[in-house]
Amino acid sequence: MAVAEPAAKTWTRKDLVGIEELTRDEIEMILDTAPQFLAVSQRESGIKKVPLLQGRLVVNWFFEPSTRTRTSFELAAKRLSADTLTMNVSASSAKKGETLHDTLFNIEAMHSDIVVIRHSYAGAARILAERHPSGIINAGDGAHEHPTQALLDAFTMLQHIRRAREEPEATLDGLRVAIIGDISHSRVARSNIWCLNRLGARVVVCAPKTLLPARIEEMGCDTTSDLREAISGTDVIYALRIQLERQSKCLFPSLREYVRLFRIDTESLKAAPPDAIVMHPGPINRDIELSTEVADGPRNVILNQVTNGVAVRMAIMHLLVNRPTFEA
Ligand code: CP
Repeated sequence: MAVAEPAAKTWTRKDLVGIEELTRDEIEMILDTAPQFLAVSQRESGIKKVPLLQGRLVVNWFFEPSTRTRTSFELAAKRLSADTLTMNVSASSAKKGETLHDTLFNIEAMHSDIVVIRHSYAGAARILAERHPSGIINAGDGAHEHPTQALLDAFTMLQHIRRAREEPEATLDGLRVAIIGDISHSRVARSNIWCLNRLGARVVVCAPKTLLPARIEEMGCDTTSDLREAISGTDVIYALRIQLERQSKCLFPSLREYVRLFRIDTESLKAAPPDAIVMHPGPINRDIELSTEVADGPRNVILNQVTNGVAVRMAIMHLLVNRPTFEA
């Protein structure tokens, strides 16, 4: 009997609007594509560019503040040799009442290929993706999803364990990840839980009860309000920013109380294994989620996350536009 050859895999999606809908194969296609782009960014001599999106137009359309994601997408597009356009939302016709769809129809009349959108409305990227021919990338939609953050985080975790274990083919299967902080308001937490679950990692989320959404366990994670319990035995401590701007009422007694119970600092880190790494999506509220000592210390890989973000976003844009096939 003939043995079936493993099938080649082809990227088929036009858009990246959420992790929830991605298969493990799709996530792995992104993570397997990123290293070649990391190498492009790390070239010491020669040009930090490849022509894979030459002649294409990438539009950055951010309705909420951003440092890392916006600059990372812009740099990723430039390193792929795309033309880039950054929409100035405060000076655009959105201020005169133009809808998202109408604005995008006009941008598309100028032949955009990829539109990267961050918006406070959960679902903004999806409604655009369903109606428009441009490839839509969700750069954060309300408290719903931040898919490229979760992908660069998974890439950083993989990079770390492969180096630490000296196993270049190691996977995230069985990795233990503790996500600490404002889970309720965090699109980063939601995308990370979906992404890590799909890759076989085990996630525990830790927060005051008021910052843990009801039925969060149904997403596939454990919960606790005890920081030491969360981080004892973990491989990755992932601290989230306290999002004071998304809280309509005070959800914990005081910042001092939050710091006492949930801050990652030299003292609380004693409960974690000595080789556990510390991650944070940024921006950091220094001395609230992380003490300065930890934020600047040897266990954090926060700036590696930022470096990897460019490579992962280059990989995503390449996949969406060029739809390559991967040999099995
Ligand atoms: N991590 C992240 O989304 O940071 P920015 O808000 O600066 O883009």
